[in-house]
Amino acid sequence: MTSRDERLTMLGMKGPVFSVTDPEKYRKGLKLLEEAIAPLAIFASDNLITWNRNLSFLHDNFYHEFINDKNIDQKNRAIVWRLYILVYFAQIALKVEGDFMELGVLEGITVEQVLKKINFEESEKNYYLYDLFDWKDDYEHDPHRELKDKNLYSKVKNKFKNYECVKIIKGKVPDTLLKEIPDKIAFAHIDMNHPDPEEGALKMILPRLSNSGIIVFDDYGWWSYSAQKKVLDPIVSDYGLSILELPTGQGLLIKNHGKS
Ligand SMILES: C[S@@+](CC[C@H](N)C(=O)[O-])C[C@H]1O[C@@H](n2cnc3c(N)ncnc32)[C@H](O)[C@@H]1O
Repeated sequence: MTSRDERLTMLGMKGPVFSVTDPEKYRKGLKLLEEAIAPLAIFASDNLITWNRNLSFLHDNFYHEFINDKNIDQKNRAIVWRLYILVYFAQIALKVEGDFMELGVLEGITVEQVLKKINFEESEKNYYLYDLFDWKDDYEHDPHRELKDKNLYSKVKNKFKNYECVKIIKGKVPDTLLKEIPDKIAFAHIDMNHPDPEEGALKMILPRLSNSGIIVFDDYGWWSYSAQKKVLDPIVSDYGLSILELPTGQGLLIKNHGKS
């Protein structure tokens, strides 16, 4: 018989964090915090520090393999909690009418993981991926190292070459949406680190988002990107909706949940 007192194996994780001005002080502070909470395990990664949590994703082989996959850059593995949330809602959106979109794809690491974890191909939906896939010095969004790779676009095309359902659209959002956008949208992941394309994209996505359709905004809760929150909130408010800020820094929107 299983005792009610039998608990999960205690798991923790430490990974990179952002915006630390004194790494040595951060390291010392984290060490002190760990001593203060011992014997509990800590989760400290992606600017999320917490303890005494189940961390359900770390008990799932899929995420366990993800955080230990040395082929994936450490900064991408650090955001495993965001991935867990994204995948959870992508799974739910499989039952919603319409296609999937990601706006801001970079190397396609997140989409690749979503495709691995959920039975997307069986859904007969398409997954539309939008990105500039290049870098010019007058761009205002974050100059990710990967964007300077001249072969980025061909690498991403190659990554998804065996997925007929994946449509890759190179160019500037929202202009590219005027040319190619699904009529009905079940799920969108918006991650462009700049208010202008996010504002333009949201204005085009919301009218096409099905009831119970889901949008995950990657940057919504981050203060450094709070200019995005300022432009996105009024747009969803016009639809009588609001975005939920998650502890991971993501934002979550579910359209007219429950209405048929
Ligand atoms: C943070 S990265 C996306 C990361 C990706 N979602 C992932 O999870 O791996 C942001 C991306 O947004 C793209 N981006 C920024 N502004 C854009 C615009 N106006 N049109 C298309 N893509 C844009 C950049 O090229 C960059 O690849």
